[in-house]
Amino acid sequence: EIERLVCCYCDGVLITQWPNYISSLPGSSVKMHCYQNDTDYDYKYWYRQIKGEGPVLIGSYNFNSPTNEKGFETGFTMSGTETKKWTLTVDVKEGIDAVYLCAASLHSE
Ligand SMILES: *[C@@H]1O[C@H](CO)[C@@H](O)[C@H](O)[C@H]1NC(C)=O
Repeated sequence: EIERLVCCYCDGVLITQWPNYISSLPGSSVKMHCYQNDTDYDYKYWYRQIKGEGPVLIGSYNFNSPTNEKGFETGFTMSGTETKKWTLTVDVKEGIDAVYLCAASLHSE
């Protein structure tokens, strides 16, 4: 499926994400972080990509206020008190392994 992006101005920004890999047992929780090196965008996002599928939005985070998408209401906690850095905490359970991606934008669109 091709998604059309309606965008009047797009800019590549440097975002650093860590750790590269996490392995943990069900029942624990893991944290991953993103940092926007050169920008101070207010809107941050986390996506989850299961092998063979496209990225799915977990939720967005702005002004210390997280909004989780349907299906991600529990087990996924977005946090971050600095503008530049944001964090996703995932409660580990069977079948939750995936690639987690982050993004940031200047506007909510
Ligand atoms: C970006 O910021 C991260 C986190 O502070 C740092 O580890 C990394 O080296 C920075 N990357 C560049 C290219 O400055």
